Amino acid sequence: MKIEIEIQEYNSIEELPPIEQKLVLEAKKACKRAYAPHSGFHVGAAVLLEDDSIVSGNNQENIAYPSGICAERTTLFYAHAQHPDKKPKTIAVAAFQNGEYEPEPVTPCGACRQVMLETENRYKQAMRVIMVGENKIWATKSVHDLVPLSFDDFLKS
Ligand code: THU
Repeated sequence: MKIEIEIQEYNSIEELPPIEQKLVLEAKKACKRAYAPHSGFHVGAAVLLEDDSIVSGNNQENIAYPSGICAERTTLFYAHAQHPDKKPKTIAVAAFQNGEYEPEPVTPCGACRQVMLETENRYKQAMRVIMVGENKIWATKSVHDLVPLSFDDFLKS
């Protein structure tokens, strides 16, 4: 068996549609507001909602390490808390470390991918994922592309 996923690659932010350029800039801005004194890895995320409004957030760390939370989950949970009736269309993720934005695309951790899957299932709509790097940007059409063989289909309510 072989599983293939489709990733779109962009060489610069200008190749994205204007609304996604804005989303990427909001994710990058959010990096600068991260609280990451323990790792020094400042991650920003921005979610585009169905009415084209944007919600952004970042990682929030804690000295008891597991108590912290990643940028993607901060942002999605905030979006769901504030705007439960607006479907998220797209999420962008960027990171800033050692005085520079990450050159390579920032790929979400497993726990965030699982939460992002739940968002797709909850709103019954694919969510595009934009992984930002200074040198190149990757995007998938849905979270499922990033989580082959996902658990989310097993529990039927
Ligand atoms: N982090 C994120 O915010 N998103 C990810 O997808 C991976 C990791 C954060 C968690 C922690 O604050 C720091 O990056 C280093 O792992």
